[in-house]
Amino acid sequence: MSFSDLRFIIASDVLLACLFPLAILFLGYKHVPSFSFSELKDLLLLGRRKTRHYGHFSLERAHESYTQYVRLSEQELSLMRRSYSTLGRANKNIGYKIGYPRKLDRMKDVTDLNATITDGVAELAIEEFPSLKTKDPVAAGSADLGRVRESLKHFVRDWSEEGAAERTRIFAPILDLLRSVDPQERGGLKVLVPGCGLGRLAWEISQLGYDTTANELSFFMTLSLRFLLSPKTTTTPNEHILRPYAHWFSHQRTNDSLFRGISFPDAVPRLSPTFRLVEEDFMKLKAPSSNRNDAYMDGYDFIVTLFFIDTSLDLLSTLNHIHTLLRPGGVWINLGPLLWTGGAQAKVELSLEEVLQAAEEIGFVLDRDEEGPSAQRTIECEYTGDRNAMMRWIYKAEFWVARKSK
Ligand SMILES: C[S@@+](CC[C@H](N)C(=O)[O-])C[C@H]1O[C@@H](n2cnc3c(N)ncnc32)[C@H](O)[C@@H]1O
Repeated sequence: MSFSDLRFIIASDVLLACLFPLAILFLGYKHVPSFSFSELKDLLLLGRRKTRHYGHFSLERAHESYTQYVRLSEQELSLMRRSYSTLGRANKNIGYKIGYPRKLDRMKDVTDLNATITDGVAELAIEEFPSLKTKDPVAAGSADLGRVRESLKHFVRDWSEEGAAERTRIFAPILDLLRSVDPQERGGLKVLVPGCGLGRLAWEISQLGYDTTANELSFFMTLSLRFLLSPKTTTTPNEHILRPYAHWFSHQRTNDSLFRGISFPDAVPRLSPTFRLVEEDFMKLKAPSSNRNDAYMDGYDFIVTLFFIDTSLDLLSTLNHIHTLLRPGGVWINLGPLLWTGGAQAKVELSLEEVLQAAEEIGFVLDRDEEGPSAQRTIECEYTGDRNAMMRWIYKAEFWVARKSK
């Protein structure tokens, strides 16, 4: 190569094009503290190990997201630090005096404390699903961090004393109805709880003596539930502590409240022949065979949907499937709001009267009792609310009972 060629290359865009991405990587490495050398290496070697797109709620993505909880949280924290650093000198001084940088440090400490749970969830997942050891890399991002945090809040809603009041309001109508069945008969009756989340309602139903199947599609939920179900990770009540509200600074009266720890679980659940977990899309479930040696009676005796039906993008298929999975005369119990996924993603977004009409079209007979445990009614309730917060989101959820005609 001649000297003039070299001069041309140095002066040309070619060199710039080569150096620019390297400079960006270098700056990223220098200025984003959570950006580790190994990640830099991974980025440079991107072509060799391609990240694979696993489903949003898949085992692989959920596992990676729990594993990456600290890194993803620190990424967010470093953005918050950067915003703070753009304050002018005088305002930064006020921030310093009221302890804002310390609050950000505290968030980092709390993230590390929460990581004892998220790491525990991820490690147990590896033991229970060894295939995870050889999974392709997953590019977990902020939406995945949101899903991990949502599951952490469900530890409170489902499995802490702190969540008991919220739970009792919504579980009571369902459990009261199921308690009205003679205890001697319950053992022979099959109950399905689709979209069970962290499974407390399903577990409570199993404790009443019913043969209960908890079903959940999202491994973000079930890996956390498994953390409670396994004697390797959970053995005694309230042995774990979580700071579930630390990541959302809004509506907090004090920092102690924001960072407060919540113990869980208030009860230790275990799987058993009468409390099963099925990690699958509800729409793929088949009706169980009848206990009565009568194929005509195949199906569940009860299907209980709690804050579930409106998560469907295809409500009518979901209602049809509930109907299909029930035995003739089987009962559908619903409690929840109608918070449809917007942006034309849901095939239909119905009002309450339309949902009930559709259910009747499908073949359900709605219980029209005006009183008693099966009476249709509105239940004011919260969903993973923080009882110390300066804001409450109240649902006027609807409870109804419907029967599949014989
Ligand atoms: C709003 S959450 C309610 C969770 C739980 N029922 C509760 O009240 O805490 C809805 C749940 O349904 C699950 N879900 C949505 N579609 C599902 C499907 N097709 N099969 C199984 N679970 C599903 C979601 O993953 C989510 O955990």
